[in-house]
Amino acid sequence: MKKIQAIKGTYDILPGEVEIWQHIEEKVRYRMRMYGYSEIRTPVFEETGLFARSIGEDTDIVGKEMYTFNDMGNRSLTLRPEGTASVIRAFIEHSLDQKGLPQSLWYMGPMFRQERPQKGRQRQFHQFGAEIIGSPSPLVDADMMILFDDIVKDLGLNERVYALNFIGRGESRQAFTDALVAFLDTVEDNLCDDCKRRKATNPLRVLDCKVPSCREAVHDSERLPKTVDFLDDDDTRHYGTVKNVLHDYGVAFVEDPYLVRGLDYYTGTIFEMNCSGLGAQSAIMGGGRYDNLIKDLGGPDLPATGFACGMERLVLAIEAEGSVPDAGNWMDVYLIDPVGDNDSQERTAGYLKTLRKLGYTVMMDYMRRSMKSQMKSAARANAGYALIIESEEGMVSARNMGRSEQEMMTFDAFLDKLKNDKDTI
Ligand code: HAM
Repeated sequence: MKKIQAIKGTYDILPGEVEIWQHIEEKVRYRMRMYGYSEIRTPVFEETGLFARSIGEDTDIVGKEMYTFNDMGNRSLTLRPEGTASVIRAFIEHSLDQKGLPQSLWYMGPMFRQERPQKGRQRQFHQFGAEIIGSPSPLVDADMMILFDDIVKDLGLNERVYALNFIGRGESRQAFTDALVAFLDTVEDNLCDDCKRRKATNPLRVLDCKVPSCREAVHDSERLPKTVDFLDDDDTRHYGTVKNVLHDYGVAFVEDPYLVRGLDYYTGTIFEMNCSGLGAQSAIMGGGRYDNLIKDLGGPDLPATGFACGMERLVLAIEAEGSVPDAGNWMDVYLIDPVGDNDSQERTAGYLKTLRKLGYTVMMDYMRRSMKSQMKSAARANAGYALIIESEEGMVSARNMGRSEQEMMTFDAFLDKLKNDKDTI
């Protein structure tokens, strides 16, 4: 019979790998709390129109990467390809603006994009992200970047540099777009078919094209206009403040006047962080300001800014460069029953119950295996102590696994010893 396997582009996170995920999740939760964000959890599927309207019809995500299906009521639904649209939908639906502004929200969970799987690119992947809704301040853009920088610093990533750009709003955006289209007219023959179309529908997308000949025609030209040359006074002031605050905090960034993002909702500051050593999929996070999205989705006219980090890529970056957590003593005690008959198993289970009630992490062997196998399991479980149940009632031999020292004592004396160990940590 053909074995059923995980779907291409999806994968299992097994014990041994999951610890690094838990480590990241802990750091994220800690920093989010510290910076004053509240967690929000939204469904993994939504009406398709939500993503089409927010991310943009002409983006790769909406055009070719969404998992879209009709449910039994013949409604078109889509597995969320990112978190921002759902957070904004929830913000509007629950009138969260009434609870005070700005609303600082964060989330973590699986996202789905039907991309060609490769290292750092999956079809089900995970993001954590944050959105601040309600404040137009450049300090908020910078604060968000500082927050993410802190998280990855906690995780031991030293090679941290943001790519930063400002794509302008309103008139300045239009002036840049006009100049870009005029430039694209001059290289039209060398554009790929998609970009010939994008030139008319969504010219900024051309800057993000991955087709080598198209990139060459566009990015190798010295005539390619720069977004920052078209900013108005407000834009320039906003962008300048973001850069000053980042300088003040010692957050490293390089300006990239050709940086654009793969989603259409951005309106001002945009940023990504790339990690060398991750190959083609080097962006571990991306984000920026999106001041029109809430209004465009039928909500109040409120500005917002946010980011999301790809956790699989973060794991790769940490494994390459960061501090992979020391598992520490995972179990306090592994109980070893050398006899394995019904009576001794029951006695061992009694000790297990006492230790658990006292709050210790503890395991026992239910397979009635040899003492040697049980000792191996204790080592594999990274136990602080292997506790051998002696045949004499109330007596145990405590083996300190780290020091390879063993001592016979009463169970009560062992409990004192454990307590002392904990107190001296
Ligand atoms: P994004 O740039 O599309 O932005 O995704 C953010 C991050 O998710 C990327 O930098 C990457 O690390 C990771 N990522 C994206 N696609 C994949 C994939 N197929 N496999 C593995 N990792 C992937 C957003 O999603 C925006 N919602 C960010 C945002 C929040 N902007 C404002 N607020």
